[in-house]
Amino acid sequence: MKKTLLILAILLSLPFKKEWGGAFAQNGNTSKVLPLIPWPKEVKQLDDEFVLTPATKIVLSNTKFKPEVDYLNNYLISNYSFELQIIPDLPKDGNYLYITQPDFERGFTENYDLMMNQNQLLFIAEGNAGLFYGFQTLIQLMPLEKTSAGVLGTAELRIPCADIKDSPRYNWRGMHLDCSRHFFSKEEVKKYIDYLTLYKFNTFHWHLTDDQGWRIEIKQYPLLTKIGSQRKETIIGKPKWDKQGNPSKDDKYDVKPYGGFYTQEDIKEVVAYAQARHITVVPEIEMPGHSLAALAAYPQYSCTGGPFETYTKWGVSDDVYCAGNDSTFQFLENILTEVLDLFPSKYIHIGGDEAPRDRWKACAKCQKRMTDEKLKNENELQNYFITRIEKFINSKGRQIIGWDEILEGGLAPNAAVMSWRGTDGGIAAAKLKHPVVMTPGKPCYFDHYQSKNKADEPLAIGGFNPLDSVYAYNPTPKVLSGEEINFILGAQGNVWTEYITDFSKVQYMAMPRMAALSETLWTPADKKDFKKFNERLKLHSKILDKMKVNYAKHFIGKK
Ligand code: ACM
Ligand code: ZN
Repeated sequence: MKKTLLILAILLSLPFKKEWGGAFAQNGNTSKVLPLIPWPKEVKQLDDEFVLTPATKIVLSNTKFKPEVDYLNNYLISNYSFELQIIPDLPKDGNYLYITQPDFERGFTENYDLMMNQNQLLFIAEGNAGLFYGFQTLIQLMPLEKTSAGVLGTAELRIPCADIKDSPRYNWRGMHLDCSRHFFSKEEVKKYIDYLTLYKFNTFHWHLTDDQGWRIEIKQYPLLTKIGSQRKETIIGKPKWDKQGNPSKDDKYDVKPYGGFYTQEDIKEVVAYAQARHITVVPEIEMPGHSLAALAAYPQYSCTGGPFETYTKWGVSDDVYCAGNDSTFQFLENILTEVLDLFPSKYIHIGGDEAPRDRWKACAKCQKRMTDEKLKNENELQNYFITRIEKFINSKGRQIIGWDEILEGGLAPNAAVMSWRGTDGGIAAAKLKHPVVMTPGKPCYFDHYQSKNKADEPLAIGGFNPLDSVYAYNPTPKVLSGEEINFILGAQGNVWTEYITDFSKVQYMAMPRMAALSETLWTPADKKDFKKFNERLKLHSKILDKMKVNYAKHFIGKK
C-alpha cells in the first residue's frame, strides 16, 4: 500500500468516517449559515467544531505545498498573531491539518476536497492552486477574532465543520482595473488583488495604457513615462459636447498636473504578489487606438506627426498609431518585448477597441499600406495591424486577447476575444472556435450605478447594474452548441475609472459586485441562490469591514 493510501486509511477510520463518503448535499442538517463565497460545488454541513490553536500541527508530507502552507501561516500571524508548526508525520496527540494529494493526477489543478472533524482538517488537492483555494475556504470559516481558553488563555479559533468537494465552473475568473484614467498605487493594486484572492478569482486584467495616461515604465522609451504618464489637468465630471461634437466651453477642469506610473520593479512585485495567490496578471497595452499618451511622448508613430498632449478629458482620441509606418510596429514590438519579460501570462491584452479610422483615411502611408496589402477598407487595416502584432506575440510563445472590435475586418488567426459590446462578439468568436472571455457591459461593467437612486451614489458612467443582475449572469450563451461552449473561458468584471477618482471609490464600485460575480464564475449554476447568497454576504460584510473595504451597502438596506 502506498504511504498516502495507508495514511488516508488511518484518517478515514477516525471518528469522522461516518460523515465522509456519504452523499453530499447543498446543506447538511445543521442550520448555521456558513459564510462561504463563492459557494462550493458540494457542501455537507456537520455539527462538529474544529478548534484551531497554536498547538495545532500542519502535517505536510509533500513539500511542493510548502508555499501555500507558508501563506496560511503568514495569514494566521497577521490576523491572529500565531502560526502552526509544520511536521512530516501524524502527531501522537492533538489536532492537525493534514495535507495530501489524490493518488491519481487528473489535471484538475484548481480542485480541492476538505474533510473536517474535531480532530483533523483533511485537505486533498492535486495542484497548488487547489490547496490555496481550500485554504481560502478555511480562512472564510475562521471567526474574525480569536477567543481565549484555559487558564493560560490559549488562543483558539472555533471553526464549524463541513465536508466540501470543490472545483470552479470556469477557467477565466477575471477582474479588471483601469489604472490609466486614474492611477492607483502599487499598495492599492495589491489590496485589490487581496479581494480577488478572497473570492477565488484567478485573473487580474491590468489596464496600463490609454489616451489619458501611460503607466508602465519601458526602459527603451523613457518618454512614455516622463511625458505619457502625466497630464496637465483633468476634466471635472462628464464632458459636455457641443452640437458639433466638440468639447464644450462649459467643461470645467481641475487645473493641476496628474500622473503616476509603475516602475518595472513595482510591476515585478505586483506580479509576484499575484502569483503567490494563484492569480495571473494579464497586462493590457492598448493599440491601435486609446494611445494618445504614448503619442504625446513619441508623435512620430502617429499619422499626422503631432504634436499631442496626454488627453485631459474622457472619451476617445481620434489620433491613433499609424498603420502605414513600419517603425510603429518596431516601436510596439520593442515595448512588448519588455512587457513579455515582466508578465509571464499566456495572454497579452492588446486592446483593439474603439480605434477611430479618421486619421488612417487621411494618411498617405496608411492608404499605401492598404493598396500594397490589398486591403479593402480601414477595418481590414485594423485586422492587418492586430494580425501583425499577433505574429510577433505568437513568435514569443504567447497569445493575444483583444476587445471584440478585433473581429472587424477579420479575426487574427489565434486571437482570443473579450466580448464587451454585449455578447454577440463572443458568440461569433466561439463559433469561429476562438477562445472567449465574456464581459458584456451589462452586467460586467462595475463602473455603472448600483442603485436607481443616483443622488445617493458617487458619479458613475451611467447605466444600472445592480447586484442581482451580476449574480444572475450566465456567461455561456444558450445559442452555442456543445463544442462551441468549450470556447467560453469564463467572464470578467471591469472597473473603468474615469469617474473613480480614488481607491475608496474603486472599492465601492467593485464590492460587493465582485463577490456576486465570483459565484457566477465558480459555483455550479444549479447551486446558485441569490437569497442564500445575500445571507452569506451579510456575514461577509464583517470580513470586508475587517479588511477596511468601503463596499456598497444596498444589500443590507443602506445606501
Ligand atoms: C471598452 O470598454 N472600451 C473596452
Ligand atoms: Zn497613418
